Amino acid sequence: MRLLALLLALPLLGQHEQMRKPGEKHPFIGNATAIAAGLKLFNGGCAGCHGANGQGGRGPNLAGGLALWHSRNDDEYFGILRKGISGGGMPGSTLPDDDLWRVVAYVRSLRAPASELDVPGNKENGQVIFHGKGGCANCHAVAGNGGRIGPDLSNIGATRPLTNLRESILDPDSDGAFGFRRATVSFRDTARAPLSGVLRNQSNYSLQLIDSSGDIRLVEMRDVATLKVEDSSPMPKDFRTRLTKDELTDLLAWLSRLSTRKD
Ligand code: HEC
Ligand code: HEC
Repeated sequence: MRLLALLLALPLLGQHEQMRKPGEKHPFIGNATAIAAGLKLFNGGCAGCHGANGQGGRGPNLAGGLALWHSRNDDEYFGILRKGISGGGMPGSTLPDDDLWRVVAYVRSLRAPASELDVPGNKENGQVIFHGKGGCANCHAVAGNGGRIGPDLSNIGATRPLTNLRESILDPDSDGAFGFRRATVSFRDTARAPLSGVLRNQSNYSLQLIDSSGDIRLVEMRDVATLKVEDSSPMPKDFRTRLTKDELTDLLAWLSRLSTRKD
């Protein structure tokens, strides 16, 4: 790790890129075509160590759930990939500069907020699916519109990488949005019927359950006999089959653009 820090401290490792000032955005970064080409190159030369989706293997996970877009600049990434990490088990790349930049664009996209990529798809249709066929709005609000069972998604494009959004929809149990688990409470007063819902705002004294109609039920902990919290996400698990590939693409195009930043 010390060696890595040293490498990062070296300015302008991408010496072949003299046309561009250091720190300036490379045209491939955020570009959908370059990212798709980068993915192919990644599968050829990197996935063997870093996993097919960059999730890690012999090499570290490159696809952290959090958007760390600004933690390391493009030139630093390019430099790491060109030189490799000596002693760390990571060989340097012999790809031509343009191809290596495509790989950088792909690796960056694994952590960049989706709103910073030009995500393909029909976003208007995505919005229609969100409120219609997908049933997403039953549980999620956007700009004050929609349900309260799941997290508000008004700013989701600006805070999650695209891969993470896709994963949230296709494999809801894998992501890290905790604090939204389904729970069932039984009461000391056995005459009182058990309550189920999505658990919110639990403290030592009270908790809230959001029931299926979106109403918040406040429960005092002193009344609780048992609290059973489920491990799995309350989100439906069948979107992979319920939505077509194009519908998913459109949905992601819309979600990616959800940002509360006004620009
Ligand atoms: C032979 C296995 C191997 C191959 C092939 C490989 N890597 Fe790595 N990579 C590693 C290892 C191991 C590390 C960790 C080295 C260390 O930190 O000491 C690493 C580190 C990295 C890092 C730094 C991670 C971080 O954020 O600290 C990046 C980025 C990276 N690899 C991307 C790639 C890309 C892109 C390719 C393909 C061009 C690639 N690697 C090919 C094994 C590999
Ligand atoms: C039955 C309610 C429900 C439905 C329907 C639902 N979700 Fe969710 N969703 C949740 C809950 C609860 C969470 C938080 C727990 C989790 O991540 O699994 C969540 C999490 C998410 C996240 C991750 C949020 C974050 O902060 O990381 C995204 C993105 C998302 N949902 C999108 C969708 C989309 C798109 C649809 C429609 C195709 C949808 N959801 C349908 C309940 C729902």
